[in-house]
Amino acid sequence: VVAEVDEMLRRVIGEDVQLTLTLAADAGKVRVDAGQLTQILMNLAANARDAMPDGGRLIVETAPVELDEAYAAAHAGVAPGPYVLVTVTDTGIGMSRETIARVFEPFFTTKGEKGTGLGLPTVYGIVRQSGGHLEIYSEPGLGAAFKIYLPRVEAPPETGVASASDSRGAVARGTESVLLVEDDLALREMTSEVLQDAGYAVTAAATPDEALAAVARGLAPDLLVTDVVMPGMKGPELARRIHALRPGARIVFMSGYTAGTMLDRGMLPEGSVFVEKPFTSERLLRAIRKALEE
Ligand SMILES: Nc1ncnc2c1ncn2[C@@H]1O[C@H](COP(=O)(O)OP(=O)(O)OP(=O)(O)O)[C@@H](O)[C@H]1O
Ligand SMILES: [Mg+2]
Repeated sequence: VVAEVDEMLRRVIGEDVQLTLTLAADAGKVRVDAGQLTQILMNLAANARDAMPDGGRLIVETAPVELDEAYAAAHAGVAPGPYVLVTVTDTGIGMSRETIARVFEPFFTTKGEKGTGLGLPTVYGIVRQSGGHLEIYSEPGLGAAFKIYLPRVEAPPETGVASASDSRGAVARGTESVLLVEDDLALREMTSEVLQDAGYAVTAAATPDEALAAVARGLAPDLLVTDVVMPGMKGPELARRIHALRPGARIVFMSGYTAGTMLDRGMLPEGSVFVEKPFTSERLLRAIRKALEE
């Protein structure tokens, strides 16, 4: 998963941050939802980017480790045994002790209007649901390292979806048909998986033209979920054309730009629902229910 999200991570961190992946060939197996692991990495990468406004380095490492009795005794809720360690390190502004103590509080942010403070609580939730454990090492001015310990399993991961659906008890589910348009392959696949897991019938398109062709062929989506900025045709233009073919379709826009920026620039039709990238599955699923139920 780490190797596969490589390109997506690079996109999140931008050109001024250098990404290094150091992946152990023998790290071992874990039983974790791939979409959720991707979310963890995206959230940590977004935070690293924010902590390095003038550029720097982001290093992602994997390694097999054993946590012993002594370690378990010193860390509440940790069972001793074999783990796969995923470490995400940046060379950014770092954090004070006071900040570290609060980062898992929902809505805690030092970014003012720009942050929702839900990134790390989401990461923490996923790690705990996966039976894992997370530690932060950071000091002001000296970067930050996030260490995620996921329990190593010996058997090949089961193909059943029990654990994935168990861990998603609270998500906003639905069965409507969704047309997803996203040019970034990794993000398209991840989003598609999240929507399918939540019960939706998903058709994914890489370009606006592909999406329009599917609707022209008879696809009747209840909802269009589309990127705003795509090569060729922009999201709002695509929305207008889809509406012409299927007037009842609801719209959710996704973008790395903030809603404020988009509305200021008059890019989004009024009343459309907007989710800012990178988003958590929960945030996306809530936006979708909002669009469908309005
Ligand atoms: N790599 C990091 N370097 C320095 N500070 C960090 C780092 N990661 C997180 N923080 C601090 O932790 C706070 C909480 O992070 P979290 O990801 O939960 O929220 P956010 O990034 O502020 O907002 P959101 O992720 O919802 O957009 C941040 O506001 C920041 O102060
Ligand atoms: Mg964040």
